[in-house]
Amino acid sequence: MFFRTFGSRAVVVRESYKDVEAVLERLGVDGVDGMVLDLGASSFQLERAARGFSFMQDGALDMRMDTRSEVSAESLIAMLSESELAGIIRSYGEERRSRSIARAVVRARQVAPIKTTKELARIVTSCFPPAERHARLHPATRTFQALRIAVNDELENIKAGLRSAIRVLKSGARLVVISFHSLEDRLVKQAFTEASLSCVCPRDFPQCVCGTIPLVKKITRKVVLASVEEIDANPRSRSAKVRVVEKI
Ligand SMILES: C[S@@+](CC[C@H](N)C(=O)[O-])C[C@H]1O[C@@H](n2cnc3c(N)ncnc32)[C@H](O)[C@@H]1O
Repeated sequence: MFFRTFGSRAVVVRESYKDVEAVLERLGVDGVDGMVLDLGASSFQLERAARGFSFMQDGALDMRMDTRSEVSAESLIAMLSESELAGIIRSYGEERRSRSIARAVVRARQVAPIKTTKELARIVTSCFPPAERHARLHPATRTFQALRIAVNDELENIKAGLRSAIRVLKSGARLVVISFHSLEDRLVKQAFTEASLSCVCPRDFPQCVCGTIPLVKKITRKVVLASVEEIDANPRSRSAKVRVVEKI
């Protein structure tokens, strides 16, 4: 719908943004005047039970952003070892109960394959003390985030996507990135800092010898958060973080 207003000027491409250079080359586009990366999962994906992103509704344990991909959350949970599962839940979910959750998942899958979002949410919640099971943040939130990131290799795609995006920007073009959790924002902040550096020599070097040329300049010195009015109008914007750079 949104793109219809642009008519033939809008070309919708179903590809990973990490491959933006190859896509533009295929389209014969030589650089872009601006780019917006809106990271994470869409409301459409979160609200559709069958996509399996949310523990709020019961659906297949899928979580694939690209349904052409072979790896789903169900297949990951079935094939990973207990320590691999704990590693993913800890590093991608920042969940301090990662080990007990992984243990409970492995114990449960020995009885029967874990196939639905509600089943997984129940197993994860059982690892929390009763007093924490009805907290503001649902006990399964971090584990579901971790599995989603693993299923879609989101952090590696973001790192590669940011590098490609900066490369295809024309001079003076801006890259706007909207992220929704700290792991995403950390990568954006890091990529923008690295791309804006004019020297990478060790601090004790008497003069710069590295010859580093900054690719971008930061437009947002600090991360930009949604205003109170915006959060009122769109509660999902409360966790949004925006950073902008301009290609030199
Ligand atoms: C936050 S949503 C974008 C929502 C959109 N701006 C809207 O207003 O409807 C992010 C979208 O990016 C997609 N996505 C995630 N990783 C991607 C990747 N590596 N390449 C391309 N799209 C990706 C997701 O499937 C999701 O549909």
